[in-house]
Amino acid sequence: MIQRIPINNDWFYKPTFNQSDLTTVANESDFIKVRLPHTNKELPYHYFDESSYQLISSYKIKLPTFIVTEDEEISVHFEGVMAYAEIYLNGTFLGEHFGGYTPFEFNLPKGLLKASSSEHFDKDNWLFVKVDSRERDDIPPFGYVVDYLTYGGIYREVQLQINHTKKLRNVKIETPSMDGKTFNLNISFDVTQSTQPSDEVLLELWDDDNCLEKQKISWLKLTDNHIHINELDQIIPWKITTPKLYVLKLALQSNEQKYFLHTCKIGFRTVAFKSDGFYLNGEKVKLRGLNRHQSYPYVGYAMPKSAQFADADQLKYELGVNVVRSSHYPPSRHFLDRCDEIGLLVIEELPGWQHIGDQAWQNLALNSLDEMIRRDWNHPSVILWGTRINESKDDTAFYTKSSQLAKNLDTTRATGGVRNFAGSEVLEDVYTYNDFVHRGNNRALELPKKISKKEMPYLVTEHNGHMYPTKSFDTESKKIEHALRHARVINSAYSEKNISGAIGWCMFDYNTHKDFGSGDKICYHGVLDMFRNPKYAAGVYASQQSDQPYLSVASNFAIGDYEASELGKIIVFTNCDYIKVYRNDIYINTFYPDQTTFSAMPHPPIIVDDLIGNLLYENERFSEKDAAIIKKILLHFLKYGGELPLIDKIQMGILFVKYKMSFADAADLYGKYIAGWGEKSKTYRFDGIMKDTVVSQVIKSAADEFILRAKADCTLLTEEETYDVTRVSVCLTDPYGETLAYASQIVTCTVSGPLEIIGPSSFSLIGGARAFWVKTAGKKGTGHIEITLENGLETSVEITIK
Ligand code: GAL
Repeated sequence: MIQRIPINNDWFYKPTFNQSDLTTVANESDFIKVRLPHTNKELPYHYFDESSYQLISSYKIKLPTFIVTEDEEISVHFEGVMAYAEIYLNGTFLGEHFGGYTPFEFNLPKGLLKASSSEHFDKDNWLFVKVDSRERDDIPPFGYVVDYLTYGGIYREVQLQINHTKKLRNVKIETPSMDGKTFNLNISFDVTQSTQPSDEVLLELWDDDNCLEKQKISWLKLTDNHIHINELDQIIPWKITTPKLYVLKLALQSNEQKYFLHTCKIGFRTVAFKSDGFYLNGEKVKLRGLNRHQSYPYVGYAMPKSAQFADADQLKYELGVNVVRSSHYPPSRHFLDRCDEIGLLVIEELPGWQHIGDQAWQNLALNSLDEMIRRDWNHPSVILWGTRINESKDDTAFYTKSSQLAKNLDTTRATGGVRNFAGSEVLEDVYTYNDFVHRGNNRALELPKKISKKEMPYLVTEHNGHMYPTKSFDTESKKIEHALRHARVINSAYSEKNISGAIGWCMFDYNTHKDFGSGDKICYHGVLDMFRNPKYAAGVYASQQSDQPYLSVASNFAIGDYEASELGKIIVFTNCDYIKVYRNDIYINTFYPDQTTFSAMPHPPIIVDDLIGNLLYENERFSEKDAAIIKKILLHFLKYGGELPLIDKIQMGILFVKYKMSFADAADLYGKYIAGWGEKSKTYRFDGIMKDTVVSQVIKSAADEFILRAKADCTLLTEEETYDVTRVSVCLTDPYGETLAYASQIVTCTVSGPLEIIGPSSFSLIGGARAFWVKTAGKKGTGHIEITLENGLETSVEITIK
């Protein structure tokens, strides 16, 4: 029976290391108590010294008591330590690991463990970890510059594992299918000791409480440690919309003893990249996605399961994407588990960024690739292995090895290797390309053939990003153009059948090195800010899904915020069939998705280019026909300024005479209906309509009343294997719920109950919004958070901790 004992609590930490610490392990002075995931240094939001976390630190823990029989062994399993770790047991060196993104484990030799009997290991057994979080040139991704921070510490969870010495390892599950309906199940594994003829493998396949398949297979009948089960026909395939998971249990029976050795959630599905696109279970799916770093404000990479789940959920349910690229390294296993559960496809790649080091460095990179694939090959959500260092140059020897390694380990998935230039040597299956051609007024994406130089599967793995960095507190025009650039690229990916899809850079803003970003150690490349609050560009993605109505209007309608106080065209991101617009509750017009400019994407933006409607006829003294002409001229004035087309000038002259109008009268009309400078502010209402029913509404109005809102992603936190967290988002809105984008007042949070705030408890709003994470403090109860704005506005959030 395999036993997993999480050891995430009761660690001791100090941000330095002395050789003498190894011999004085029981001495706790100088150390502080911490829980994992742990960051070796909490950082400010921005403007900090990036070398402050690049240090060598010490972690130690007194192991819990455990009982191990003669034929069992005990190991310690680390999910992720940045970037180099040395492990010691009771002062004796056990081993080392290079690379911060993949798991590793070491056996704890019984001879080194202190015990009261040969089975009861119940004395003071200390595990010590020396953690080197410096950017060492010998470890990928380091060696030159990197556009993200890698943070430090034991930032993922740790477990003890007690296992029979004879065990199955490297269990790999494949689910081939000819038709996407009837599936085979292929299982392969290694065994740690030689087997006897009487050994048997027990296999069970469960659908919740229903056992679909039960087999006992004599070891003698197994060829090459493989089990094949053909034509499972009651299987529901794993799909994006219905990500059905089953549980596979494998046990090895030897000498009448049965060991449950492996339990794994699996999904039945096939994936294929072809030159005309990506196929899931034989059905073509256009990939629409975002890149994600695994970083969070203040604590960097150190966030437990629920925060990883929340990012996956936000991608799937809020941003409506169907794929995420885990740039530029393997993510937490929790993130992948959640992607499996919710049906979010994943592209995973080995750690690295542009730079390729020497032979030893390359061997470490290959080792990380090996560790990544073995860890993740059973995740149905993972569809492609990235086997090149992101955006590195060609390297025949290195990339022959890396693509071959991936192929040897996994024949079911395609390989890619992200590059940023055309005509690269292709040793992989898919030409994965970062396409930054779009500059606003040119083509949105390159033609695949121009880049790959031959017909082959092709995927855009990044676009936008540094080409148009945009802050949530930027001007309107900047935020709108940012959104439109994403829209143009998405549309272009849909219009080109040979492009499997496009993955935008990136999900949220992130801290970076001084060589990149906006000088404050932030790359403002996200469609969300660092706190996961949306910019207008988030609406482009959110509006492409069909699961729930979405409507956002990319304008604050504050005329003083626009050149010449002209609102211009209003861009609406929505999946509604059409919208109706009202001004001060008077109907103006109905608008439809702009299928001319955005002919291919599922839900083109709607361009509202007329906020006058019939009002000139209804409110003024013009005939219906003349009102239409005047409206056209006013809108042309908005477009062309004084340089009106000749026909407009002629018509204007005729109407001036007919209605005895002066230039001042015309200017008044322009001010009243278009520019509005000198007029009372108006309220605009946008009704989003699906199947002739209003399903969503946005109201834009100048506000006198302000509301401080706060919302926890989750109000029930549970301590399972370690502390739990939730994000609490805070924003200042008008009464209609629209965020007030220039609000920067100071927010102060006071917490009571068994909860702690991660990072500062007092901070300013950024672009009208902010968020903070709270973590459980090891006790049950109710946590209460009072949130106060500097002007006295208040709100609160309550969280139950199980
Ligand atoms: C790419 C790179 C990403 C990020 C992005 C910004 O070149 O792969 O990591 O730096 O640029 O647009």
